[in-house]
Amino acid sequence: MADAPIGGAAPAPRFPVPTLPVPPVGVVGLGQLGGSLADALAAGGRPVSGWDVDPAARDAAAARGVRITQEMAGVVVLAVPLPAMASALEGLTVDPDATITDLGSVKRPVLETLAATLGNRVVGGHPMCGTERSGHAAVDPTLFTGARWALCLEPDTDLSRWLRVAEVALAVGAEVVPVTAAEHDDAVAAISHVPHLLAAALAAAAAEAGPLALALAAGSFAGGTRVVGSDPAFVTAMVEGNAVPTAAALARVQQQLARPWPELVAAGHAVVTRTAGRRTVRVPLDRAALLSLGRAGGAVTRRLAAFVEGWVPEPA
Ligand SMILES: NC(=O)c1ccc[n+]([C@@H]2O[C@H](COP(=O)([O-])OP(=O)(O)OC[C@H]3O[C@@H](n4cnc5c(N)ncnc54)[C@H](O)[C@@H]3O)[C@@H](O)[C@H]2O)c1
Repeated sequence: MADAPIGGAAPAPRFPVPTLPVPPVGVVGLGQLGGSLADALAAGGRPVSGWDVDPAARDAAAARGVRITQEMAGVVVLAVPLPAMASALEGLTVDPDATITDLGSVKRPVLETLAATLGNRVVGGHPMCGTERSGHAAVDPTLFTGARWALCLEPDTDLSRWLRVAEVALAVGAEVVPVTAAEHDDAVAAISHVPHLLAAALAAAAAEAGPLALALAAGSFAGGTRVVGSDPAFVTAMVEGNAVPTAAALARVQQQLARPWPELVAAGHAVVTRTAGRRTVRVPLDRAALLSLGRAGGAVTRRLAAFVEGWVPEPA
């Protein structure tokens, strides 16, 4: 199916755009991602509540202005490890009209699990930021500034709920990338999950080379292996939760490694040096048009009443 055209379809508003209602936000899991989100929202004056099974994470969030409660309403954000997603709402009181979203690094399995009990109240999400640190000590309210935040638009996604979640992402400085769960999982296999495996392989191979090699390691080794410091349980849940796309992406890397080295080096360099500008676009509030924006490599930066504003890369 051809992608819908991006931009130009939505007319400029001729009257002042009304202020959009701002629902409260509840964050379940106040570690690196959830704590950072709650902190950023609270710092922006937004009513935000939160819950974590770890009392230390609750205390840290409370000290930053988050209301600690097991009652959630508005937009409820699941920011727990992937294996805990299915049970994260157990024991909590959630408003029946609340929109549930998650920050999980894999989307298809999480959405299948959540949708089984929550139906189309669920909108899957994945902010493309974070560090190799974890837990509430790693909270940083600027974590989302300028980051892409993938937000799933499935055939049965309620667009008004999608927009509510998009507004939360935009409120903390992220840019929203409309995407399907399947396309997301294929894409992040290539740009996140395989890099985690390659980093592990590089580190393990360098260790086999011996202490001299590790003593001489500098920038290229540090850059290629930064993520090996991540919690192994987090990385394992991520790559095993997205096993089929990750195996396919890894096979593509293996094919690249089989190319003659000069050809491979030139091909990689060409990707990095490909600079693209940005063109501002307006996109109607329509699933096909929004997905076209994401597929073009663009993102939403602002929500207005009748359309969203964003950008697409200019051809190099
Ligand atoms: N770390 C990253 O780089 C990164 C990036 C993008 C998305 N994510 C995703 O975000 C989610 C959270 O990752 P993180 O890095 O913030 O992890 P984290 O370990 O820093 O924090 C997770 C928090 O969830 C809490 N928790 C665990 N089970 C819970 C439950 N049942 N109810 C309430 N709280 C519970 C833990 O106590 C902890 O405070 C994961 O699903 C991960 O896939 C992580």
